Parts: sequence; C-alpha cells; structure tokens
Amino acid sequence: MTPVRVLAVASEVYPIIKTGGLADVAGALPVALKTHGVEMRTLMPGYPDVMRLMSGAAEIRSWPDYFGGPGRLLAGFHEGLDLFVLDVPHLYARPGNPYVTPEGVDWPDNGLRFAALARIAADIGHGLVPAFVPDVVHAHDWQAGLAPAYLHYDNRPRPATVMTIHNMAYQGKFARELIGSIGLPWSAFDVRGLEYFGGISFLKAGLQFADRITTVSPTYAQEIQSDEGGMGFGGLLRERAGVLSGILNGIDTSVWNPQEDPHIAYRYGADDLTFRAANKAVLQQQFNLDSSDEAPLLGVISRLSWQKGLDLLLETIPTIMGEGMQLALLGSGDRDLQERYQAAARANPGRIGVVIGYDEILAHLLQAGSDALIVPSRFEPCGLTQLCALRYGAIPIVSRVGGLEDTIVDIGEAGTSGRNATGFKFAPVTAEALAGSLRKANAAFHDKQTWRQLQRNGLATDVSWRGRAGDYATLYRDLMAARA
Ligand code: ADP
Ligand code: GLC
Repeated sequence: MTPVRVLAVASEVYPIIKTGGLADVAGALPVALKTHGVEMRTLMPGYPDVMRLMSGAAEIRSWPDYFGGPGRLLAGFHEGLDLFVLDVPHLYARPGNPYVTPEGVDWPDNGLRFAALARIAADIGHGLVPAFVPDVVHAHDWQAGLAPAYLHYDNRPRPATVMTIHNMAYQGKFARELIGSIGLPWSAFDVRGLEYFGGISFLKAGLQFADRITTVSPTYAQEIQSDEGGMGFGGLLRERAGVLSGILNGIDTSVWNPQEDPHIAYRYGADDLTFRAANKAVLQQQFNLDSSDEAPLLGVISRLSWQKGLDLLLETIPTIMGEGMQLALLGSGDRDLQERYQAAARANPGRIGVVIGYDEILAHLLQAGSDALIVPSRFEPCGLTQLCALRYGAIPIVSRVGGLEDTIVDIGEAGTSGRNATGFKFAPVTAEALAGSLRKANAAFHDKQTWRQLQRNGLATDVSWRGRAGDYATLYRDLMAARA
C-alpha cells in the first residue's frame, strides 16, 4: 500500500483545545489513520494553549510580516499527533475560546485569522515544507474553508482537496472587502466563488472548490441537500451531490473506556454493569439529586444552543416529574437556556440538577452514572455523546435527525432493520414526541430485562474509529487514483 500524505487543517484539536466535537474528530482521526497507511499531519493556529505545548517544536519558517505582524511555522508533536502550528501572536495569542472575545462576541478579525491559517495550508500544499508535501489537503469546517480556494486561485499544480462539514450552521461570513486583504483575486467575488448574499463565506469557498466534500453522517449528507438543511447551501450541494458523501464519526475508545476511565468513581466492563449503580449514586450527589436507584436518571451533556433542542426538553419537565424520573444536565452556551435550566433546578430540588460550565471529568461521570442520555437536537451532523453513551451503557434517547438517526437503533424498529435496538428515537422534533419517548423509556427501564438487553446491544456496537478511518483512507486513495 503506497502511503498517503494528508495535511489536515483544523481550528481545534483534542486534547489541546476544544469547543465541540470537531476537536474530538481532528484529534482522533490522525491516530486512527496510521493503521490505514495514511500519514496525517494537522495544521492548527498557535493559540496560547497550543504554544504552551510547543516548547520543543522546530521552527520551519518565519516571516517578519505575515498578515500584519511577525509569524512562524512550527513543527511539533503532542500525544501521537504530528502538528504544524502557525504562530502568529497578533492573530492567535488570545486566551480562552478560540473564536470569541471574553464578552462572547466574535473576534472582529476572525476573517483575517482564519484566512492566515488557510493561506499557509495552501503553501504547505505547494511544497513549503519539503519533508512533508501532502497528496491531499483536508479542510475541516469554515475556519479551513479558504484552503481549497487558495489552492484553486493559485493556479499551480496542487494536491487534491477535501472539505468536511461538521456543522452547516457555521458559515464563516464576512464583508466582501476582506477579499482585498487576504490575497485572493477580486474575481473570487462571484456566485461561482466566495460570494454569499452580498458578502463572502469561507464555508462556501470550501464547498465550491474542494475536489470532494464530506460530512459526518450519511443522513446529514442527504439533509444538507435540502433548502432547509442546507441553510443557504442546499442548491450548491445538490449541484455537487456527485462529490458529496457522509462518513460517520467514531469516538476515541481509549479516552472513552469505562474499564479504564480515570474520571469515573467506579470502573466497569461490558459484562458487569453493577458498578454503574455506584457511579449513579456519586452523580446524584454531585448534582444534588435525591439518592435513589429506582428513579431513572436522565443525563444531558451539551452545548446549549438552538441546534441542540434543549428548550424542548424544558417543556417536558412535567412528564419527567410525573414519570418519577430525574434529570442531570451539564452544559453551557446560550444565556437564556442556562438561566431557564437553573430555574428548573431551583423549582424541582432533588429531581433536577444542573451544572453550567464545560467539564470533561463530569462528562465522563455523567456517561457512567446516567441511565439514559438525551439528545433532542433539531439537527445533528453526527453527534458524539450518544456514541459515548452506547459505550458506557447509558441508553440514548435521541431525535431522528442526522447522525443520531444513523447511529441509534430504535426499540420499535429493531426487528425490521435486522439490527439490535440500542435506544429510543423520536420524530418530529417536538416536545410532545420527546415526552412520548421519555414515557416509553421509563416503561422499559422498569422492565429490567429489556433495559439490560438495550445496554448489551449498545455495548456491543462498534463506535470506534477503526472502520470509519478506513472510509477516509479509501476516499484519499480514490482521489489520488483519479489524478494518477
Ligand atoms: P457539538 O460538536 O455539536 O457540540 P458533539 O456531540 O459532536 O456536538 O460533540 C460534543 C463534544 O463536546 C463531546 O465530546 C461532549 O462530551 C463534549 N461536551 C459538550 N458539552 C460539554 C460540557 N458542558 N462539558 C464537557 N464536555 C462537553
Ligand atoms: C459538529 C456537529 C456534531 C458533530 C461534530 C463533529 O460540531 O454539531 O454533530 O458530531 O461537529 O463532527
């Protein structure tokens, strides 16, 4: 097998910096690809959290003026990841969330910040680093979207390009004037280029110019070709349907492994789930919930945003109460939702517990101690928490969209699909339908045999990257074969 060299371009990479699932994917995929003969290096911005780890890194190039200030390209290594880090302090030396100010608004120069990242990706594509000349440049989400566009407009021999959409809702929209300061020709301001409702979109750049487009589940690949799911890009994606495909995400099964998880109170293996009860007791304590083994404990680990449908879950609180269930929610984001959940916890002491914030360790305990994990998303490109739930014996209750549809088998469709049931799916995405699933789940929970069978089926599901990384490897090889 000829080795394939791929430059991945990502704005966040677990375990270095993470705001969502993109980081998980960018961190796990390169490692999983090693066994498939793919040598992947990842280019990311030199945020403070990244630079702290780069003390031993080698400087490959430096520029006195890179997009308005001094810049360097470093090559480093961290926990199995081969990294290129673009160290440009005036663009990236800002602590905290990589995209927004401490006040929570987008950094005003985000266009410049991520154009700079994509420009260097294209240069590496052209051979800037002789020791690593990629066959493929693989851009993740809008932050990397300009990479295929630069490679296109540079008009030189270039590597193949892949654009992966993790979330259609984030489109990297900027004023048209930006084109003049990021080294793209004005001809790029065109409907067949970056133009998008009078401005420009970095996501569109990637979708327009990448040789192949992927997204993170087959169902989402279909959904985004509709006007509604495409969020403005349905038409473009219908036109490019021939090069668009869905490859499901996996999870890092060494990070998410209940047998060796250092973050949970009691470890357990797939064949003996008795220790889940002990984790549930600790979870109830940490969320100020009544200690009870008999009350089904529903868990949520999520960004609080419109996408995730957690306003619908608030509407089902009367059902949760009426059914004698408990709810533990860990999340942060939308201020209004945060406050409404905190109010719900105050109004239902001992029954609803809420932790506002981002807490990796608590997320693991939630997976190990919750009986069910709820993901009521309005849209969900893939979703990772339901995959972790399968691996931890928490039963997913999910809406029937995107990757949730593809990864969970509903208790009612098991026989017909020939697959074993792993959870509960509801449609349409409404509070009523969710409440119906909660009632069904409650009944199943009290039928110990049914519940145990659901858990067993979930635990037997392969949620790892093994097969899925193979799909990416095949995609890269197909691209190379097409150009040979
Ligand atoms: P998205 O990327 O849309 O936020 P995913 O389900 O793909 O959704 O990925 C979310 C990732 O972030 C998961 O690894 C999940 O465990 C983690 N996560 C989300 N919210 C929190 C939180 N408040 N605390 C800890 N981890 C969180
Ligand atoms: C996005 C999506 C999520 C997906 C993740 C990783 O943030 O919202 O569904 O799992 O990217 O691909």
